[in-house]
Amino acid sequence: MSEADIPPLSLHFLAVLSLLCFFSGANSDDLQILLNIKTSLQNSNTNIFNSWETHNSICNFTGISCYSDGSVKAIELSNQQLSGTLPFDSICQLKSLQKLSVGQNSLHGPVTDDLRKCVRLQYLDLGNNFFSGEVPDLSPLNRLVSLYLNNSGFSGTFPWNSLSNMTGLVDLSLGDNQFDSSILFPAVVVELTRLKWLYLSNCTIEGRIPPGIGNLTELLNLELSYNNMSGKIPPEISKLGKLWHLELYNNDLIGKFPAGFGNLTSLENFDASTNHLEGNLSELRSLTNLASLQLFQNGFSGEVPAEFGEFKKLLVLSLYTNQLTGSLPQMLGSWADFDYIDVTENFLTGPIPPDMCKQGKMKELLILQNKFSGQIPATCVNCSSMTRFRVSNNSLSGVVPSGIWGLPNVGLIDIALNQFQGPITSDIQNAKSLVQLLLSDNQLSGELPPEISKATALIQIDLSYNQFSGYIPATIGELKQLGWLALQNNNFSGNIPATIGELKQLERLALQNNNFSGDILATIGQLKQLRRLSLQNNNFSGTIE
Ligand SMILES: *[C@@H]1O[C@H](CO)[C@@H](O)[C@H](O)[C@H]1NC(C)=O
Ligand SMILES: *[C@@H]1O[C@H](CO)[C@@H](O)[C@H](O)[C@H]1NC(C)=O
Ligand SMILES: *[C@@H]1O[C@H](CO)[C@@H](O)[C@H](O)[C@H]1NC(C)=O
Ligand SMILES: *[C@@H]1O[C@H](CO)[C@@H](O)[C@H](O)[C@H]1NC(C)=O
Ligand SMILES: *[C@@H]1O[C@H](CO)[C@@H](O)[C@H](O)[C@H]1NC(C)=O
Ligand SMILES: *[C@@H]1O[C@H](CO)[C@@H](O)[C@H](O)[C@H]1NC(C)=O
Ligand SMILES: *[C@@H]1O[C@H](CO)[C@@H](O)[C@H](O)[C@H]1NC(C)=O
Ligand SMILES: *[C@@H]1O[C@H](CO)[C@@H](O)[C@H](O)[C@H]1NC(C)=O
Ligand SMILES: *[C@@H]1O[C@H](CO)[C@@H](O)[C@H](O)[C@H]1NC(C)=O
Ligand SMILES: *[C@@H]1O[C@H](CO)[C@@H](O)[C@H](O)[C@H]1NC(C)=O
Ligand SMILES: *[C@@H]1O[C@H](CO)[C@@H](O)[C@H](O)[C@H]1NC(C)=O
Ligand SMILES: *[C@@H]1O[C@H](CO)[C@@H](O)[C@H](O)[C@H]1NC(C)=O
Repeated sequence: MSEADIPPLSLHFLAVLSLLCFFSGANSDDLQILLNIKTSLQNSNTNIFNSWETHNSICNFTGISCYSDGSVKAIELSNQQLSGTLPFDSICQLKSLQKLSVGQNSLHGPVTDDLRKCVRLQYLDLGNNFFSGEVPDLSPLNRLVSLYLNNSGFSGTFPWNSLSNMTGLVDLSLGDNQFDSSILFPAVVVELTRLKWLYLSNCTIEGRIPPGIGNLTELLNLELSYNNMSGKIPPEISKLGKLWHLELYNNDLIGKFPAGFGNLTSLENFDASTNHLEGNLSELRSLTNLASLQLFQNGFSGEVPAEFGEFKKLLVLSLYTNQLTGSLPQMLGSWADFDYIDVTENFLTGPIPPDMCKQGKMKELLILQNKFSGQIPATCVNCSSMTRFRVSNNSLSGVVPSGIWGLPNVGLIDIALNQFQGPITSDIQNAKSLVQLLLSDNQLSGELPPEISKATALIQIDLSYNQFSGYIPATIGELKQLGWLALQNNNFSGNIPATIGELKQLERLALQNNNFSGDILATIGQLKQLRRLSLQNNNFSGTIE
């Protein structure tokens, strides 16, 4: 429409309109840019773009915030089920964009060089997406405070030099990307002395942790797991007095904890599992704020320090496959809602700490293959949260407390290879989650209670090498999932109940070295899945043996 066509009455209106456009010129550009973004992401499974309509103010678009002049300040669309490719050429035309947050979506395609034009960005989160290709040089983005590119499908070489002018960087998260070739720990990173969050796990870094790490004294979180880092943990790490979370697991680290490591008293979560670390745990005595300590699969030796028994926040302790000796502190795990212990495969002696289940929150008790002695602590009986109870191959004794048999959430009871006594009690009817019952090589006795039929999740029952006696209850036929029934080397007697024939999943049946009698040929014949059967040394009639 040309001006000549405009009726006089509208002139005034037009003047107002153009005045509006003058003040919001930036906005109309920004509007077009945002509409481009919407188009690029139109296949997303989300309704957030419903508000992205021309009749709305862009500052009212879901996920958009503006400066007071109406220009776009931030795009916050994390975790919105976005899919498509991001038009960085459009986005970086937003002149004053400070924050671009699109993590945890299904974005794909390359991150183009256009990103370099987003020079005002302070916050960039592209993490947890499916981008491809290299990360472009980001050196113009030297105002960045937070940079999240973790787990986003990047490959190639990361442009480490881009970080050299990002002196204000506080959060740097690049882990879980398959960068091409292994690199040494990039020197530029230890110059970023404002860093609080450094996530470089699983991004093909090899070589030593540089002593310069000690310069990053603001660090709260340091994660270097799943790399090929070797050498010793540098003593300078003990300068990181604010460190709260430290993950070094799955590397090739060697040596002892450096002197002064115990200065990291803010540490709450520490994981250095699956390395080649050695020496004793004395340096950790002073880490009283630990909530989670994981050092499994290393070469640690010596005793678990008595001080661990006073750690008031401890919830998780995993020290399996080391060479630890001595007894565990008896107050261990008795303060907070203790959740998990795994000290399997060490040389630990003495009693199981009695109060780990006291708060009734414990889920897994895993102390296999040690030399623990004494009884099962009474507090375990009330531990309805327990899912795995494994104490096999120790020197434990006494009567198994009856409540253990009926723990409602326990999937696995493994007490084999000890000197336990007493019967399986009828409490087992409450064991609704029990899948595996492994009791072999003890001195358990009594009859198998008929109530075992109520533990209908059972797949494996191993009672071998005990002193059980009496008949197999006919109710056993109700265990429809049962695949493995091992009763050998006990003193069971009587006929095998015909209901055994109803165990359609049964693959292995071991009855040898008992005192069974009667004719079981017909029953056995019904077990179509049966692959292994042992009957010898009983008083069966017939000649299947
Ligand atoms: C934004 O939306 C609200 C209602 O949702 C409305 O009151 C307000 O006028 C809108 N602002 C602009 C600038 O459009
Ligand atoms: C990974 O990136 C997301 C943002 O996408 C961030 O919230 C998260 O903390 C990052 N994870 C780590 C371990 O740095
Ligand atoms: C960092 O800034 C300096 C001075 O502005 C400049 O000379 C240098 O090229 C920049 N480095 C990078 C990697 O951009
Ligand atoms: C390591 O990162 C890759 C992506 O590069 C991912 O697929 C894998 O699951 C990660 N490994 C671990 C242990 O997180
Ligand atoms: C650590 O900081 C000190 C003092 O600021 C400095 O002299 C040293 O070069 C830094 N080390 C590294 C590896 O950056
Ligand atoms: C460590 O390096 C070896 C070869 O040097 C490689 O096979 C292995 O996958 C690497 N491990 C990790 C976690 O990068
Ligand atoms: C540990 O802290 C103590 C007291 O603050 C200090 O004297 C010692 O030098 C520190 N050790 C290391 C290795 O940083
Ligand atoms: C632990 O090892 C250090 C040497 O690494 C030694 O000085 C200390 O006496 C040991 N502590 C205990 C309790 O064995
Ligand atoms: C029991 O533990 C000992 C070490 O204490 C080990 O040598 C043995 O193989 C273990 N037995 C089984 C059956 O796991
Ligand atoms: C188990 O709980 C019951 C009921 O709360 C309580 O009476 C009993 O003392 C508890 N037993 C143990 C060993 O804590
Ligand atoms: C086996 O049980 C019978 C009773 O059924 C009993 O007389 C016998 O003493 C028991 N044998 C052993 C070795 O416990
Ligand atoms: C087997 O059972 C019979 C009775 O059925 C009993 O007399 C005999 O002692 C038992 N044999 C063994 C070895 O326990």
